[in-house]
Amino acid sequence: MSDMQHDRLLIIDFGSQVTQLIARRLRELNVYCEIHPFNLVDNAFLTTFAPKAVIFSGGPCSVIDDGSPRPPESVYSLGVPILGICYGQQVMMQMLGGQVERGHGTAEFGRAYVTPSDDKTDLLSGWFTDDKEQVWMSHGDHVAEIAPGFEVYGTSPNAPFAITADVARNFYAVQFHPEVHHTPNGAKLYENFVKMAGFTGDWTMGAYREQAVAAIKEQVGDKNVICALSGGVDSSVAAALIHEAIGEQLTCVFVDHGLLRKNEAEEVVGMFRDHMNLRVIHADETELFLGELEGQSDPETKRKIIGKLFIDVFQKYANEIEGAEFLAQGTLYPDVIESVSFSGGPSVTIKSHHNVGGLPEKMGLTLVEPLRELFKDEVRALGRELGLPDSFIGRHPFPGPGLAIRCPGEITRAKLDILREADAVYIDQIRKHGLYDEIWQAFVAILPVRTVGVMGDGRTYDYACALRAVTSVDGMTADYYPFSHEFLGETATRIINEVPGINRVTYDITSKPPGTIEWE
Ligand code: XMP
Repeated sequence: MSDMQHDRLLIIDFGSQVTQLIARRLRELNVYCEIHPFNLVDNAFLTTFAPKAVIFSGGPCSVIDDGSPRPPESVYSLGVPILGICYGQQVMMQMLGGQVERGHGTAEFGRAYVTPSDDKTDLLSGWFTDDKEQVWMSHGDHVAEIAPGFEVYGTSPNAPFAITADVARNFYAVQFHPEVHHTPNGAKLYENFVKMAGFTGDWTMGAYREQAVAAIKEQVGDKNVICALSGGVDSSVAAALIHEAIGEQLTCVFVDHGLLRKNEAEEVVGMFRDHMNLRVIHADETELFLGELEGQSDPETKRKIIGKLFIDVFQKYANEIEGAEFLAQGTLYPDVIESVSFSGGPSVTIKSHHNVGGLPEKMGLTLVEPLRELFKDEVRALGRELGLPDSFIGRHPFPGPGLAIRCPGEITRAKLDILREADAVYIDQIRKHGLYDEIWQAFVAILPVRTVGVMGDGRTYDYACALRAVTSVDGMTADYYPFSHEFLGETATRIINEVPGINRVTYDITSKPPGTIEWE
């Protein structure tokens, strides 16, 4: 998605695992940038793209090897600032007349400290908070001789040319990765670089919204788009954005498998249909899903049944929408893994959304993915920009198979009803105590056992449940949330008093790994 109205920065990708973090740092500075694989960047591309600055990413290759990736020579005569990072630094040195050697004993991986030299450059303005600065290194080869015109501005024990620059030509080269978290002050280098390049920081979410709307209009034309609306942040923001672009040409299908939380279907459909005027089909297929799940207790079987039915149902409703040629998906940037293959062209692997994976090919649909360039928190900012309420934008993730995987063993309607009530009380407690936003995900799982209790003067024999609450940044690893004993006690009392059918409450203190967040 190109925007000609904004100053553009070009990131030439040499295959680093962290190239997308460079884009991320630049967006935080309100700078418009695009990542393009090195083998698609030629002279014609550079002329059309007309970057105001260029960054060479890191990469896994060695510049010493024959046929290793290079940018076109013409990039050096564009007259714009260039920043080379790690492999990008080495390729720049090699091409401009310096020398790179294989690292015999000079390889450096992990934390290192760079100390400044006596010379000063604006790239480092305000960067050294101390007499040395922590950086993250990850290199096997090293620069043995810098190119003519370059000076040294920073060194580390294993990288005498950690920071170099040819200030006259505005070429900068660093051996480390300023974009990663372990270079704590790295964002400052990017800030200085884009400032030197003359970017004004005019790339805001408002600008993104306008440009995305125009791009959707252009892609879709007068055709129709369908979207599986789950009520999650990504599909909701994608739907709202596409609706702004093409209005009635978008139809959303909300597949209700009967495994949703209390009032969830009404809230999602109500908001999109009544408040935002989207065309939403509420596909209430509770009977179908719960019927097929009857008697099933194996977690994988349950997941497979739900996944297959979801696709069947979505397809059935979508077939009734005339002229639908596009399928909208809330794919985010981290889902788009771009890798560079050195034998041929770039290969792009897309992690399909679990719910609609395989659908586009099966139905002959073209994808519309307006969030492909954004990170999660940027999607949230865009959602706010589009007027979605904060309560929606800050929602915890909710899995596609819904309450099915929070009801270990056989699923019954009675258990689902109890679970919905207990979950509502638990979430209410978390909100009342102001903890909702600190927690990545919180829910109740109803256990497949009944236990004995005593209430009033009578014996009870009801279900036990487990509370789960975790902190996480990406759901890949997680730790349990350290609630106070007061909170846990109060919540247990409320659940047992307010939810008939539960007489015992436990708290799950397993981290991930070894546990998973969900119970199945
Ligand atoms: P686990 O249980 O694997 O969960 O630690 C990690 C995160 O993924 C969510 N999850 C799913 N999301 N479809 C989804 O859309 C699924 O089948 C699914 N299974 C787990 C889970 O809620 C947590 O946020």
